[in-house]
Amino acid sequence: MKIIVTKDYESLSLRACQLIEEEVERRPDAVLGLATGSTPLGTYKQMIRSYKHGRTDYQHVTTFNLDEYVGLTGDHPQSYRFFMEEQLFKYLNVPSNHTYIPNGTADDMEEECERYERLIDEIGPPDLQLLGIGQNGHIGFNEPGTPFDSETHLIKLAESTRKANARFFDTLEDVPTRAITMGIRSILKSKRILLLASGERKAEAIYRLLNEVVDEKFPASSLNRHADVTLIVDEKAYHKVEETGGNRSVE
Ligand code: PGA
Repeated sequence: MKIIVTKDYESLSLRACQLIEEEVERRPDAVLGLATGSTPLGTYKQMIRSYKHGRTDYQHVTTFNLDEYVGLTGDHPQSYRFFMEEQLFKYLNVPSNHTYIPNGTADDMEEECERYERLIDEIGPPDLQLLGIGQNGHIGFNEPGTPFDSETHLIKLAESTRKANARFFDTLEDVPTRAITMGIRSILKSKRILLLASGERKAEAIYRLLNEVVDEKFPASSLNRHADVTLIVDEKAYHKVEETGGNRSVE
């Protein structure tokens, strides 16, 4: 795993944006894997700013998102479809029929999972997959214990994840209990993975990622089996590794 330590969240976001833009410049029809959550927001802001200056053209790009809540329609303000439209898609010229996100209100969820995985295989896999990491090591909505050979599937959200995400909803009861997520095998199909982690609340997860054995109890540890992962981490999320002898130079 290649590790880039940045001094703060802003430089992390800039660096991630740069790597995404380089990918699209190299491959104008790139397939990008995208993520929701607070961590990629800064990256998306940088992409939008840069797009306004005419630097990158997304007209041939296709995107796949990792996950979606079950039960929320795409126009629900907390759905991940809505998040992506508001935080990124509406500002870029990526064609709307090239932005794939699981359908959280499909009649048959099992069928929806299969359909999504097929799309990833047929159109993807992503050339570059952007990822965040949960405090418990989840990637996408793959909670601890998810088999590493899982493909897109339906999951019950861990209570800790529902609580962590409750800040976006009026009450904890409003947080959906289930979601569709790309599985760990689906994520590892991506050609290259960009993992972002920022802030003190991710320090423990980053320490575990870089120090513990690969184990289904800590889903992000599966990334150690992928040949091309770049971790961009800010100093606050990296400090625990450093205190125990990490070796790096700050960008
Ligand atoms: P966050 O979530 O970016 O909001 O911290 C990351 C995740 O849970 O995957």
